[in-house]
Amino acid sequence: MQKLRVKAALEASASQSGVIIQGWVRTRRDSKDFSFMEINDGSCLKGIQVVVDAGTPGYDQISEFATGAAAEIEGDLVESPGKGQKWEVKATTIKLIGAAPEEYPLQKKRHSDEFLRSIAHLRGRTNKFGAMFRIRSETAKAVHDFFHENGFFNMHSPILTGSDCEGAGEMFRVTTLDLHNPIPKDFDTEDFFGKEANLTVSGQLSAETYALSHGRVYTFGPTFRAENSNTARHAAEFWMIEPEAAFFDLEDNMQLGEDLLKYIIKRVREQCADDLELFTKWVDKTLEATLDNIQNNPFERVSYTEAIEILQKAQKKFEFPVEWGIDLQTEHERFLTETAFKKPVIVYDYPKDIKAFYMRLNDDEKTVAAMDVLVPRIGEIIGGSQREERLDVLERRIDELGLNKDDYWWYLDLRRFGSAPHSGFGMGFERLLMLITGITNIRDVIPYPRTPKSLDF
Ligand code: 4AD
Ligand code: MG
Repeated sequence: MQKLRVKAALEASASQSGVIIQGWVRTRRDSKDFSFMEINDGSCLKGIQVVVDAGTPGYDQISEFATGAAAEIEGDLVESPGKGQKWEVKATTIKLIGAAPEEYPLQKKRHSDEFLRSIAHLRGRTNKFGAMFRIRSETAKAVHDFFHENGFFNMHSPILTGSDCEGAGEMFRVTTLDLHNPIPKDFDTEDFFGKEANLTVSGQLSAETYALSHGRVYTFGPTFRAENSNTARHAAEFWMIEPEAAFFDLEDNMQLGEDLLKYIIKRVREQCADDLELFTKWVDKTLEATLDNIQNNPFERVSYTEAIEILQKAQKKFEFPVEWGIDLQTEHERFLTETAFKKPVIVYDYPKDIKAFYMRLNDDEKTVAAMDVLVPRIGEIIGGSQREERLDVLERRIDELGLNKDDYWWYLDLRRFGSAPHSGFGMGFERLLMLITGITNIRDVIPYPRTPKSLDF
């Protein structure tokens, strides 16, 4: 007897006797002398058809092989005489492993995304979330493969930090103090680390240190932001892919972002064709065309100043008025990629006042060598920059922004000893999955979403 995953069974090249299939019953149809069951084990979208003759050991319990029940089937993998599948299992023994009574919430019908979020612990068993989860896994693998093929080392950057990477102050404080009791006066020094600690918003600063020892590194880990924006594109906990490369300028950085995105989309389309078809059919009919468009065209590159001119000339009334110096809003980003250029757009050289302290100051002293990659439907998917490698300029920027230089002593050391031009970016992993699947709510591309006032499961 050999255990077979359903995927392997469906892709078999020859019939095989003595196999074991283990999974969950999706459907069952009974006739007088036999029953058909569809068993899904999560390994792929499709289930395998099982034929059970009356009289097969275990058949006396057949009525309990209900939708959602866990089952083990012993039998032979044989060519299916029926339409719609090449292989089926002719059962020799069936075993009920875990019954699923009628209250099982996933009876065969379509459920709303909202309802499925309320049973996030079970939604992985639906076709849609089953497919999303497999795509998420394959996408993560593609990320690692891309970087390894391009000479980048994987770095595990810290999740607990004592510094604020983005200087934005939207962090989750981590403490062991008992907040139900009076908080001591010098609570920072009394606390676990003897100083204020937070969950990281980005692994960038520590990635920079290893870029300046190993040349090319990337981190791919969880990041946390306490921004109270309850949008379909923001999560409080999300995963970020952050490459950092020494001797990369802004141009190299833009190319890396474009290459990475194209590589991942190509790979996932090759490896997850069945799963993606489901999204094209049920979620976004234009998905294939959108992905083709991204794969087949060079991304447009425009400076921030050019982008502002395009938006000002647009025959469209924006909710947020456009003028030089504003931070681009999603409506502006989507106009650039969906209407103005009809493909991904890289906007570069943003005003220094709307960007972080570490971005390299351009010669005009007004803009920094930042770049954001914008894609249809999502807007910003990548944010990055060339980093300021000049000690004096970096110190000046830290002062201008009212940050404390002492907190960044080690970061400044990199500019004191063997400083070199370097660049990097962050790509939001969930936004990438929204792009790939057409799913419009970030809550539906992560198993257990964390958003304001929502921390279930
Ligand atoms: O543009 P951001 O804030 O860039 C940084 O954090 C840099 N330190 C990255 C770097 O250069 N190494 O974030 C990068 C990306 C965004 O483009 C977006 O895709 C995603 O992270 N992102 C979010 N995704 C989901 N929920 C949120 N709240 C997000 N905030 C940012
Ligand atoms: Mg950004």
